[in-house]
Amino acid sequence: MKTNYSDKNIVLIGFMGTGKTSTGRIIAKKTKRTFIDTDEFIEAETGISIKEMFAEKGEKYFRKLEEKLVKKISGKKKQVISTGGGIVKNSSNVKRLKKNGILFALKAGEVVILKRVSAQKDKRPLLDYGNRALNLKKLKVLLAKRLPLYTAAADYMLDTTRLTPAKTAQKILCELKRQ
Ligand code: S3P
Repeated sequence: MKTNYSDKNIVLIGFMGTGKTSTGRIIAKKTKRTFIDTDEFIEAETGISIKEMFAEKGEKYFRKLEEKLVKKISGKKKQVISTGGGIVKNSSNVKRLKKNGILFALKAGEVVILKRVSAQKDKRPLLDYGNRALNLKKLKVLLAKRLPLYTAAADYMLDTTRLTPAKTAQKILCELKRQ
């Protein structure tokens, strides 16, 4: 595939349930690039799920692993990187990812996000309060805090509320080709 975004990393940021992992995997396949999902990488390296990690070691421990991983991968090029939703909480992560990367922030409506994350609770301890109403309330609070961070970090924003990951990937690749 001929590209003019050259050797930059394609980085997907955004809230849980916006489609970062599925979309990143498709883009990597289409561009024949290495795919890294930061959550999957951390789970594979530690051998425990993110939910277990939050419960047993705490969120701080997870954030340290996230930062260490970003340090390691952000120096490399030509990758597709799907990040965990909280990666933007640490401004050093954003700075490092932006150095070699083009950042696409995915967003989606609250109800769609909740539906998508309910299917994968092991990865989302921050939205696992047992009942839908409480989860939706927590989601709204967290999303309000996070949206300004995604917006500030992003080179492009894309609403995936009505998009499949395949369609999202197609739109991102179109945007990159236009550059
Ligand atoms: C988190 C998002 C999750 C995962 C962890 C924390 C967050 O990743 O890293 O549960 O703080 O938003 P996804 O965005 O891939 O769900």
